[in-house]
Amino acid sequence: MAHDRYGRRLHYLRISLTDHCNLRCVYCMPEDMTFRPNHELMQDDEVLFFVRLFADLGFDKIRLTGGEPTVRAGVVDLVRGIAATPGIRTVTMTTNGILLPRLAHALAQAGLKRVNISLDTLDPAKFRRLTRWGDLEDVLEGIRAAEEAGLQPIKINAVVVRGYNEEDVVPLAGLTLDRPWQVRFIEMMPFAGATEVQRTLVVTVPEMMARLRAAYGGLEPVDGGRLDGEARLYRLPGARGTVGFIATLSQPFCASCTRVRLTADGHLRLCLLREKEVDLLTPLRQGASREALRRQITDALWAKPWGHGLAQGEIPLNRTMSQIGG
Ligand code: 5AD
Ligand code: SF4
Repeated sequence: MAHDRYGRRLHYLRISLTDHCNLRCVYCMPEDMTFRPNHELMQDDEVLFFVRLFADLGFDKIRLTGGEPTVRAGVVDLVRGIAATPGIRTVTMTTNGILLPRLAHALAQAGLKRVNISLDTLDPAKFRRLTRWGDLEDVLEGIRAAEEAGLQPIKINAVVVRGYNEEDVVPLAGLTLDRPWQVRFIEMMPFAGATEVQRTLVVTVPEMMARLRAAYGGLEPVDGGRLDGEARLYRLPGARGTVGFIATLSQPFCASCTRVRLTADGHLRLCLLREKEVDLLTPLRQGASREALRRQITDALWAKPWGHGLAQGEIPLNRTMSQIGG
């Protein structure tokens, strides 16, 4: 079992399958984003090798991210291989949903348990403005496909950006009134690539909550405000589903962090918001032994940073969000 020096048990690995994406969300990447060539990314056998290694260390939960994980060729077979790895209990995915009408069923059959689908607004024009390229209807169809495939409960991720969608928290939260979904609102975080947007247009969770209270007349904590992963859960009066808030800046949850990340180019990233990384892919390709890699991983995990330094103005600039894996 893997621990860091603060006693946090680490058992959740988020793997970015690619830095590529079929959208260009303003809070994530520049429109003229350049991507890594395929040979710099982990190949399927390399991903599976690392999954087995992490599973041996007690990791039991895998989330596939990107970029957009569904644009990776062979993603279904890769999910099958990961889900079949001894020790891995849940495989989930964070996706923009666009390719789910084509893939949801096959992914579910391959062993994917759930999806988090990014959706920041229910207004087609605002959706286009936020994603630069996207068509809202594609995502809505993707959500339907995920539900039909049994990838439930559906979780929706909405990043809230001032001047783009801060009013949209109200209709988005309204989705939970008659659906058993979890709609999660995320405070925008700063990285490279869109730093000006990210620094100047943040909407905090307290502000989002005030909007929802004003619109719906209440917001009840679920389970006494317990954290569900990184989200604090609430319920609108009489709602079937829940709303979650991910308050990375205004109420950090670093103390209960159990996760690390593997970037698409095979670097172990110990904290989303810290630049510190350990390259695992290069030694693997140079023939390092399994034992040596295992040692590198446990040493790196032990040294996982306590938390982010956003409050002190320390912004990670070595990668965009899409290169790290959200
Ligand atoms: N801040 C917070 N969340 C972000 N995401 C992308 N960029 C940012 C950012 N700057 C989210 C997406 C998606 C997940 C992959 O990460 O909305 O839900
Ligand atoms: Fe693509 Fe997701 Fe980034 Fe949007 S947030 S550009 S969908 S990776």
